[in-house]
Amino acid sequence: MTKPKILVSRRWPEAVETAMVEKYDVTFNIKDKPLSTNEFKDALSIYDAILPTVTDKISSEVFRVKNPKTKIFGNYGVGFSHIDIPAAKAAGITVSNTPDVLSDCTADITLTLMLMAARRAGEGEREVRSGNWEGWRPRHLIGTRITGKTLGIIGFGRIGREVAKRAHFGFGMKIVVQNRSKIGNDILIRTNAHQVDNIDELLETSDFISLHCPGGDDNHHLISTKQFKKMKNSAILINTARGEVVDDNALILALKSKEISAVGLDVFNNEPNINPELMKFENAILLPHLGSATQETREAMGFRVLDNIADFFEGKVPRDKVA
Ligand code: DGY
Repeated sequence: MTKPKILVSRRWPEAVETAMVEKYDVTFNIKDKPLSTNEFKDALSIYDAILPTVTDKISSEVFRVKNPKTKIFGNYGVGFSHIDIPAAKAAGITVSNTPDVLSDCTADITLTLMLMAARRAGEGEREVRSGNWEGWRPRHLIGTRITGKTLGIIGFGRIGREVAKRAHFGFGMKIVVQNRSKIGNDILIRTNAHQVDNIDELLETSDFISLHCPGGDDNHHLISTKQFKKMKNSAILINTARGEVVDDNALILALKSKEISAVGLDVFNNEPNINPELMKFENAILLPHLGSATQETREAMGFRVLDNIADFFEGKVPRDKVA
């Protein structure tokens, strides 16, 4: 039997690449640079499956191919707002993602950002490295503590719940959540969380606000001028979801006018060419999209994609089918 032809858009962990070649006729993008729209279009006529990731912009144009050979996009990552889902559906192409396996590590990076922003760790590190540290003194780099504060979580899916667990049990934080659908009491009770009906209520009462909703059109600029005005001046905003959820211009104004106290970002609009204004703020913690970046998780994500395409080629519905 001939092996299905697979295109992998970026380099993956070695263990997964090794496992993949046993079963499939695989082409790796050895340059490890994002492929262009035309390269994806061409690929649609050659490969049975394409395995893209968050750095690939798969617009409706990619699907403008007559009789595509590709039948499944096995996305390496949980977020899929970089793929035009209606266009994939119209072209009869299945799309899957990799939920669950990255929830712990993304929650960990959220807590990292909360602590770094609250305790001014970025500023402190820069000071030590630049040789400007003058030594301990009572008024030096005073931050705010996170223990016992209120954390507002927008989007209470798998990652949001893991964040709540860490914040509640690790730091005794009070958890307030906002989510499109009603969250069952059995879930809320685990972290003594309280669900509010609208974002405004959460913004007004939270000391930390952490975004865990999907990206895409539905949540584009969910956090903009009006929302910053609702936040406490002492609030710290954390985004590990998708860059487009936050309006950069509104964020920059909020930081300039001290409408909020700090921000921690792991995701950005237009990655990796982020708004240079953001870099001017000492109280902006900026990480290069590290949420899932551990050996364990990146391997698990790869194996999860393989499970999905195996389901597909065995004639089953992929376990993480999103379209
Ligand atoms: C995802 O999975 O969507 C992350 O952003 C990358 O791991």
